[in-house]
Amino acid sequence: MDRYAVIGNPVAHSKSPLIHAAFAEATAQTLTYERLLAPLDGFRDTVARFVAEGGKGLNVTVPFKLEAFALAREHSARASIAGACNTLAWRGDHWYGDNTDGAGLLRDLVHNVGATIAGRDVLVLGAGGAARGIVVPLLGESPRRLVVANRTHTKAMRLATEFAADGPIVAIEPAALAGARFDVVINATSIGLGSSVPRDLWPATLFAPGALAYDLVYANGPTPFLRWAQEQGVTRCADGLGMLIEQAAESFLLWRGVRPQTAPVFPLLRT
Ligand code: ATR
Repeated sequence: MDRYAVIGNPVAHSKSPLIHAAFAEATAQTLTYERLLAPLDGFRDTVARFVAEGGKGLNVTVPFKLEAFALAREHSARASIAGACNTLAWRGDHWYGDNTDGAGLLRDLVHNVGATIAGRDVLVLGAGGAARGIVVPLLGESPRRLVVANRTHTKAMRLATEFAADGPIVAIEPAALAGARFDVVINATSIGLGSSVPRDLWPATLFAPGALAYDLVYANGPTPFLRWAQEQGVTRCADGLGMLIEQAAESFLLWRGVRPQTAPVFPLLRT
């Protein structure tokens, strides 16, 4: 039986096995999908063992996406742009590295949440690895402008400069956002569960009327970022569960050549 896994540290919380088991059943594919915990200094060894035991593909999660990119001998264009891989496919004698995060975000934003990016003002908070994986796909949807704001402004400037040829991307310091309003605000910082949005980090006036707040993080219940957005009166909120499911579907397509339907998986994971 073809063997797949999600590799990370920690990985016990990952919902990917549930998602891929549902995809496999729905598309009548015979495969196994497990969680693979790699030591922080043992990514390559763990992957090598997995291949020796017949492994065919991996999803890669924190903190190994950069190492996965370095390990892959061949890359998709979107993986090369992100400089990171969340998906590896074994090609018989080498790893092919892909990055399905940006495509997963867009599919969720546009198809599931019903957001419009074209012609709109979009704000990405954060300028780390997660932000890097989504700015080019977002620019591909032709926003009016894509603003990147980050606690460490120089990192936002670097990102905006690097992708300037891909569309109207600018970096603005968090404090200078006062007065600006956005139709879509995406949290790509690592402010996750168990923390809260630092007071005064971003102005409370970021959201245009009817704006969407989207958090790449997901949780049972509102995330700290979405709670913060709700405090500002935002009613359209989405967390990253949809992105997780959609990026998994993209990985499944790469491995198996079949795109699974994602809608039936949402209720399985929300419970
Ligand atoms: P990831 O791969 O999840 O993007 P990362 O590359 O370490 O992780 O990036 C984390 C991002 O979250 C950065 O933009 C970071 O801001 P800095 O560049 O200033 O470090 C942002 N971040 C993390 N904790 C934060 C906090 N408490 N307040 C604001 N931004 C934070």
